[in-house]
Amino acid sequence: MDSELLNKVTWKIPNALALIGSASGEEWNGMTASWVTQLSMEPVLIGVGVDNKAITHRLISDGGSFSVNLWPSDDTRVFVKFSKPAEQENGSLNGRPVHRGMTGAPIFDESLAWLECEVRQSIDLGTHTLFIGEVVDAGVNDDEPRAAAMSDTRMKYGGVKRGGH
Ligand SMILES: Cc1cc2nc3c(=O)[nH]c(=O)nc-3n(C[C@H](O)[C@H](O)[C@H](O)COP(=O)(O)O)c2cc1C
Repeated sequence: MDSELLNKVTWKIPNALALIGSASGEEWNGMTASWVTQLSMEPVLIGVGVDNKAITHRLISDGGSFSVNLWPSDDTRVFVKFSKPAEQENGSLNGRPVHRGMTGAPIFDESLAWLECEVRQSIDLGTHTLFIGEVVDAGVNDDEPRAAAMSDTRMKYGGVKRGGH
């Protein structure tokens, strides 16, 4: 298959955009992710595709949980910042306040809504692992704004693997 064509078409898939929170002990991280979707209604399962080389991959594997944080569509700068390993300070990641959820995963105080998931299955698919988590806690901080999606930005993710990745 032609890589350029594969990129062109896969980049057209409308995707969500969220911050994934993860933790192992005292080590926390937040990561921009577009491969996020619900996978079952009973139980309510959420799937996230995570690069096997990402810090988040190690933290979800060790910690056994993750959070999905939805963000207002008019504040997408946050996703640029969290596409590199996050700087962890006292109670914040990249300066954004977080608190520990019931599973230990960090939850962003500024998210408009969030889900906390306990990993039930993880499937290594190649470059990425599909972590499937059951929702164990959830909250809404602000019911008004629309949640950000990939199409609110000019960013792209997916397609074929590039050199050096
Ligand atoms: C718009 C956008 C969407 C992304 N979506 C994903 C994704 O779904 N899964 C993933 O593993 N990395 C995704 N990334 C890349 C990660 O945010 C980036 O590689 C991050 O540095 C890796 O996370 P780490 O801090 O856990 O190492 C995306 C990046 C951008 C800019």
